[in-house]
Amino acid sequence: MRSLTTCVSPQLLPLHDLTDKTVVVVDVLRATSSMITAFAHHVETITPVPTLAECRMLKSQGYVTAGERGGQKVQGFDLGNSPFDFMDHQLHGAKLAFTTTNGSKAIVLASEAKTVLIGAFLNLMATAEYLIAKNQPVLILCAGWKGKFNIEDTLYAGALAGRLSNHFSFDDDATLAAATLYKSVASNLSEFLGRSSHAQRLMGFENQKDLEFCMEHDKYMINAALQEDHLVRIN
Ligand code: MLT
Repeated sequence: MRSLTTCVSPQLLPLHDLTDKTVVVVDVLRATSSMITAFAHHVETITPVPTLAECRMLKSQGYVTAGERGGQKVQGFDLGNSPFDFMDHQLHGAKLAFTTTNGSKAIVLASEAKTVLIGAFLNLMATAEYLIAKNQPVLILCAGWKGKFNIEDTLYAGALAGRLSNHFSFDDDATLAAATLYKSVASNLSEFLGRSSHAQRLMGFENQKDLEFCMEHDKYMINAALQEDHLVRIN
């Protein structure tokens, strides 16, 4: 059986060997949920960058700038990091430059992996089907919050582990813990997630709508993967 492991924070990533792995990067609230929504609405590429300066530089090359710092839209950027920002049909065919506090940085950190996929509850089934069809060991990389563990990405890891359990062996305690946590709160996911620190932060900015949207499961049957320095939709 192929192995499934979970890295609950980018700070722990140096402990993992990525070379032969598919890494699924997840930042449920909200970067990877917004990216999947953007691809579902036909953006052409998303270039994740760690800094505001790199994002601004890409704007001068015709990119649409998107992202946040501390959960809030960056002054002068075209878009923030709400999934609802990416539903505009005018973004059809657009190239986005995307920088966020945790999510875009985690994607860049994972780039040495064989394959880097974008995970969210919104495309959970599509990701699970892709991984089952592909014969590679998988690492789920949780973006966390500023290097620390967070609940929402760990819950996603548990949900994906549940969907993969007949095809993969759980190779570490983090995966087992995430799967057990997800199972134990699945019937009351929104209530549990609402207590997490980032959900509280977002609610302070009146982003309740984003929280509810990001918790939707299997809304989009699409996958996005990293090709060199940018993400593209692959199915
Ligand atoms: C991040 O990358 O940390 C997030 O997506 C923050 C947010 O909710 O905007």
